Amino acid sequence: MNNIIELNSLCKHYEMGSSEVKVLQNLDLSVQAREKVAIIGPSGSGKTTLLLTLTGLETPSSGEITINGESFAGKSADARADLRKEHIGIIFQAFHLIPSLTARENVALPLEIAGKANGREMAIKMLDKVGLGDRQDHYPAQLSGGEQQRVAIARALVHEPQLIVADEPTGNLDEDTSEQIMQLLFDLNRDSGTTLLLVTHDNELAERCDRTLRLHDGSLHAVVSNKTNNKDKAK
Ligand SMILES: Nc1ncnc2c1ncn2[C@@H]1O[C@H](COP(=O)(O)OP(=O)(O)OP(=O)(O)O)[C@@H](O)[C@H]1O
Ligand SMILES: [Mg+2]
Repeated sequence: MNNIIELNSLCKHYEMGSSEVKVLQNLDLSVQAREKVAIIGPSGSGKTTLLLTLTGLETPSSGEITINGESFAGKSADARADLRKEHIGIIFQAFHLIPSLTARENVALPLEIAGKANGREMAIKMLDKVGLGDRQDHYPAQLSGGEQQRVAIARALVHEPQLIVADEPTGNLDEDTSEQIMQLLFDLNRDSGTTLLLVTHDNELAERCDRTLRLHDGSLHAVVSNKTNNKDKAK
């Protein structure tokens, strides 16, 4: 099968002066295209570190990372960024919106960087899908926390990536908005075959994925409680 994510013996340690914080230790992960995978684990277990490392935003201490058949080994930060921009949509815990750009301009930015002509229309369409059609001219400071999060989600999805990596995507949202965003992600999975790797504290959300992995002692362990026949499952 074609794996969209392949991690082998991944280690990530942070240097802190003379000491070292060991976060990921010999972590292995294979995710097939179209899969929905939930990652759970307590605060500080390394979930964000895992997402940053596998998307090339952090350099691993050792181990191998292959995304969509392309190894990160020997790739420069620029080359990794190109790979990321092309294939991956990342939804961060912090929103990283550009304060001097409106919601629409923030969402259109990845398409403009990629030289696409229809950035504005695509951005408007995606803002509509996250329920912010009437907020497109607002600057980040003129949006609520949950609205900023939805702008960041729209920006991560606008280039129709094959892989969406999300760090607590619904962390700041009320139940209804959260359900709307999750449905958007699951629809993309079902209709476009988008692979989902979701970090979440929400058990209900984890149950709706194909499988759940717990990050513990630096590596991933299968959790066996996922229902086999959930309603969002791709046919
Ligand atoms: N840049 C850094 N330098 C040093 N230590 C770091 C750095 N980033 C994270 N850490 C440490 O690595 C560990 C894992 O952090 P990480 O952010 O990956 O955890 P997490 O599982 O995402 O937690 P949360 O659920 O709270 O978001 C933590 O103990 C954290 O203090
Ligand atoms: Mg985190």
